[in-house]
Amino acid sequence: MRNILVTGGAGFIGSNFVHHVLETGDDHVTVLDKLTYAGNRASLEGLPADRLDFVEGDIADAALVDGLFAEADAVVNFAAESHNDNSLSEPRPFLDTNIVGTYTLLEAARAHGTRLHHISTDEVYGDLELDDPVRFTERTPYNPSSPYSSTKAGSDLLVRAWVRSFGVRATISNCSNNYGPYQHVEKFIPRQITNVLRGIRPKLYGAGLNVRDWIHANDHSSAVMTILDKGEIGQTYLIGADGERSNRDVVELILELMGRSRDDYDHVVDRPGHDLRYAIDSTRLRTELGWEPRFQDFESGLADTIAWYRDHEDWWAPAKDATEAFYAARGQ
Ligand code: NAD
Ligand code: TYD
Repeated sequence: MRNILVTGGAGFIGSNFVHHVLETGDDHVTVLDKLTYAGNRASLEGLPADRLDFVEGDIADAALVDGLFAEADAVVNFAAESHNDNSLSEPRPFLDTNIVGTYTLLEAARAHGTRLHHISTDEVYGDLELDDPVRFTERTPYNPSSPYSSTKAGSDLLVRAWVRSFGVRATISNCSNNYGPYQHVEKFIPRQITNVLRGIRPKLYGAGLNVRDWIHANDHSSAVMTILDKGEIGQTYLIGADGERSNRDVVELILELMGRSRDDYDHVVDRPGHDLRYAIDSTRLRTELGWEPRFQDFESGLADTIAWYRDHEDWWAPAKDATEAFYAARGQ
């Protein structure tokens, strides 16, 4: 039984991971989360209190982080500023958390010899043409487009440097777009589902031809556990489940699953610098570590996610009005 420190464990993917760890094994979890607008303690409700501790704080707080690393057998870093649109209006928090925060964790890992897994994104690789047969692999050069993806790329490079220069025992994973319960309503899929629930038409950026490679958060969690248990120190693993879909297809499917006409949505102002397509080749993770996704039926995963938002309005409603006001101010 380990004590796993999960930073950002009150966010979307972090909270799904905490549920996964506590529901599938006997490890203890300590969550460190700053509870920014994106963190929500309610996402951790119902979990066994004797196996879960919650610490409110910043991953850039060196003294706090040092004390928590001293007590941890392993650390998984999900803490980040994670939304591209926010990074285009106010980049600074992205540098503070994604760069300085990751640096602070690395220094603690170095001081205590702690095993660290760093969560990153496929967006560090930039984007692909729609008809490009090549997908991202661990050998694709970094070419990030936005303040969000460039700060994530910077954090990955810091991890690699701390492994090589200081012998820190770290691994990195770069995952494609996640969906599932507990995702903030600012993100594409929950925004459109909760728009329909509120009687607002879904909003598609530009023509909606951009492609994202969707993976259920449960599959991301099992992949991270696999890497934590069996990954080779210093190695990077790409996580994906062959789920490429255009944004337009996703909006139309949401509308259909919610009993509305497939064309009942608006085209709005496109995102500046909008990446066209992401696509992951996860061969290394599958062949070297034996991981396989289990939630690849996108239509049924989306139907379950719609049902979750329908049943959990108390979870998302407090953030909805401010989120829509943010978008409305940008014509989105
Ligand atoms: P999120 O925004 O839902 O959650 C981030 C969490 O980190 C929140 O609970 C927030 O309070 C916390 N946090 C932010 N700054 C902090 C700080 N300085 N100190 C401590 N806690 C802090 O994000 P998410 O979608 O769950 O993403 C988690 C990680 O996964 C990120 O590193 C992101 O880059 C990566 N990722 C996300 C996706 C996706 O589709 N959402 C895909 C691939 C990778
Ligand atoms: P998002 O969930 O912000 O994730 P990312 O930017 O990390 O891929 O957006 C997913 C896709 O959906 C992206 O191509 C932008 C697009 N999008 C819309 O078309 N409408 C929206 O309201 C939002 C939030 C995103």
